[in-house]
Amino acid sequence: ERNEPCWCGSGKKYKKCHMAMDEKIALHAEKGEIVPDHSMIKTPEQIEKIRISADLNTAVLDHVAAHIHAGMSTAEIDKLVYDFTTEHGGIPAPLDYQGFPKSVCTSINNEICHGIPDESIILQEGDIVNVDVSTILDGYFSDASRMFCIGEVSERARRLVRVTEECVELGLKEAKPWNHLGDIADAINSHAKANGYSVVEDIGGHGIGLEFHEEPWVSYVTPKGSEMLLVPGMMFTIEPMINEGSPDFFIDEDNGWTVYTEDDGLSAQIEYMVLITEDGAEVLTNSNVPGKEKAAAPSLLDDTAALLLSNKKKRVMGIEPTYPAWKAG
Ligand code: MF3
Ligand code: CO
Repeated sequence: ERNEPCWCGSGKKYKKCHMAMDEKIALHAEKGEIVPDHSMIKTPEQIEKIRISADLNTAVLDHVAAHIHAGMSTAEIDKLVYDFTTEHGGIPAPLDYQGFPKSVCTSINNEICHGIPDESIILQEGDIVNVDVSTILDGYFSDASRMFCIGEVSERARRLVRVTEECVELGLKEAKPWNHLGDIADAINSHAKANGYSVVEDIGGHGIGLEFHEEPWVSYVTPKGSEMLLVPGMMFTIEPMINEGSPDFFIDEDNGWTVYTEDDGLSAQIEYMVLITEDGAEVLTNSNVPGKEKAAAPSLLDDTAALLLSNKKKRVMGIEPTYPAWKAG
């Protein structure tokens, strides 16, 4: 089978494509580590399709960023998302997903996630709101969320949003081949704890691309070195929910969706969708448009982000971006 076409569909011989990687994974498996199977490794063709879905998802979030303001209802955000997505040939993934009634999740202040947009929910000056956008384009899935500060927010809220951004960036630094999901989790959990915050334990991230939620399930509280091995071609979300107080939560009894902090403290979440590359990770949901909502601590938005942006820029300019080496052969 060394000379047969690779299972990834690249058209190359297996020995020139994924064979070395498979052998390396097998060594980790022999040591008792949790390793991904081929279903969790995207092929070059799949990556290209998912990338386009993610680009639309980013454009939807940029569209929300350009229009979100105090005094608007979250139903208006839902309409922005639905209209923009469908006008560009996409489908909002949350709509009708396991009965979810709207096109986007909008979670304000003490809401951890899965808030349902509604005409009666009006954004107020001082609110912090997570807008979680997920898109299906040509059958491929993407998912990302941002925090928006509505007008002037309290120092307390601003600090939570800033630390949440830092958590995601620190997690991202650990997203690289031959690390483990627990390395990402530990970076996030340690930084949250160091700032007096907690990480929600029972709601996590997920593989994504061919389905909305794929394996692996991603915890952000597991220890360094634990959980699944990361290998090039894996795609998943980094989307920790950071609480001011206790990580405990409850779910709205009436709508069955909205997740609230048990202690009524603030909660923030930022979601990146990432591809593990040959030497790190690419954020597939980065925006080209600099905006307030992307104002992470500059010290943490360093080389990694710059590298990722330059790849994105290359695509915009029609230049061949850099791919994992196994694509190049
Ligand atoms: N990013 C969220 C998640 O993966 C999106 C949820 S959409 C919903 O859980 F429809 F499930 F609410
Ligand atoms: Co998600």
